[in-house]
Amino acid sequence: MDSDALLVVANRLPVERDDVDGWRLSPGGLVSALVPVLGDTAATWIGWNGMAGEDLGLGEAMPEVFDGIRMVAVPLTKEEVELHYEGFSNGAIWPLYHDCVATPAYHRLEYDAYARTNEQFALTAAQESPQGARVWVHDYQLQLVPGLLRASRSDLQVGFFLHIPFPPVELFAQLPWREQILRGLLGADVVGFQTSRDARNFLAATESVLGLRPGGDRVDVEDGSGHRTVIVQDFPIGIDAEAFAARAADPLVLARAKQIREEIGAGSHLLLGVDRLDYTKGIAVRLRAFGEVLQEGSLEAADVTMLQVAVPSRQNIDEYQRVRDEVELLVGRVNGDVASVGKPVVHYLHRPVDRDELVAMYVAADVLVVTPLRDGMNLVAKEFVACRAGEDGGLVLSEFTGAAHQLDAAYLVNPYDVDAVKRALVAAVRATPEEEQRRMRLLRASVFENDVTRWAETFLATLDRADGA
Ligand code: ADP
Ligand code: G6P
Repeated sequence: MDSDALLVVANRLPVERDDVDGWRLSPGGLVSALVPVLGDTAATWIGWNGMAGEDLGLGEAMPEVFDGIRMVAVPLTKEEVELHYEGFSNGAIWPLYHDCVATPAYHRLEYDAYARTNEQFALTAAQESPQGARVWVHDYQLQLVPGLLRASRSDLQVGFFLHIPFPPVELFAQLPWREQILRGLLGADVVGFQTSRDARNFLAATESVLGLRPGGDRVDVEDGSGHRTVIVQDFPIGIDAEAFAARAADPLVLARAKQIREEIGAGSHLLLGVDRLDYTKGIAVRLRAFGEVLQEGSLEAADVTMLQVAVPSRQNIDEYQRVRDEVELLVGRVNGDVASVGKPVVHYLHRPVDRDELVAMYVAADVLVVTPLRDGMNLVAKEFVACRAGEDGGLVLSEFTGAAHQLDAAYLVNPYDVDAVKRALVAAVRATPEEEQRRMRLLRASVFENDVTRWAETFLATLDRADGA
């Protein structure tokens, strides 16, 4: 008899410890998406709590339950954090899967640590899973876990969802451990991606690297458990749109939005950027484009201001330090070139902001600027749209985000084309109220219809239907 139990396995738990605030929500789209759908399911979440071994005894103990979710921590040593998390996950897989916008570094020691850490996650998941449970494994840090679970617990229904892009096979083929990664993923009954492009890339890799013969959205595999069929599909992730809309209507949030506008300067258009400080997010591109439109006079410095929020991320990794330097140099340069005393044209915050403050920013802004060089989905774009109850404002959105597959009423841009980004910024700022409304209605219809509940229900229904045979 199969159990209804649901276990989520992700590199990160939904909480991490901050020296000042204690335990708080972890950063990033994976956690933002999963927390609202798991709250009332009695699910167990297995993951790392963000601390290296030696800090574990410090401070207040981790809570056992967060927002109704039971949490089980997988402890990582300092060395595992360096080799598995900073090393293989974020120094090899992250840049490779984002189309090599930074150069991936392949180190055997790091892959070995990744494999060992994946074994630890799989062991904990197996220990915590009742007979016949559904285990939903998430993201690029844990691609070997489905195969390990298949080998040790063939009674489980295993799903895998990749939150980031899957690259074209021409790039994926670089990976020295490409076969192990594909076989790890194919241990799942269902392998889910953000877009049809990612699913196609994965199927092409199974064909070219493993010699399999995928057909439609399925691929047949032979392994220790015999002959199985793996379902490979896109399940574009959404947000809890109603929750964002409700926060955006809260009187305190509205008052804060008004205050932000006053602080920026009445009459000025507010352009907003909100990202983890990551080299994939194209923050430099938008700063360059903004600086140029002001210098050329297509927009006047008196009429527009940009607010860029950049959440610190993966700060021990060189590429992340480099992108921080680049962004901060550009903020200084644009202000130096066109700002006047007491009125910067770019406001820059390098810190996390709490949810209500973030929503107040979404409400206060006129245009959200989202220009990643590659992004699995980009939830920030959807959150902004959900907060625009007045059907006003504009969204400038990179073509190379998963979100662009659904939000084609945005001003879609190629982020490598600075002139195209400049034209989109000017068009979005100058749009008539009618044009804003036309676009925003279409965007809102998509965001509210394809919300995170629908995403989770569709994925889990597909997993329930998959029999592996
Ligand atoms: P990624 O998953 O690469 O970080 P997404 O745009 O998909 O990118 O998701 C980012 C998530 O992090 C969103 O839910 C967003 O609300 C949240 N977030 C982004 N910036 C901040 C910030 N400064 N403070 C708090 N949360 C943030
Ligand atoms: C993205 C990834 C997540 C990751 C998050 C934050 O959303 O898809 O797996 O958790 O970024 O990154 P971090 O390295 O801090 O966990």
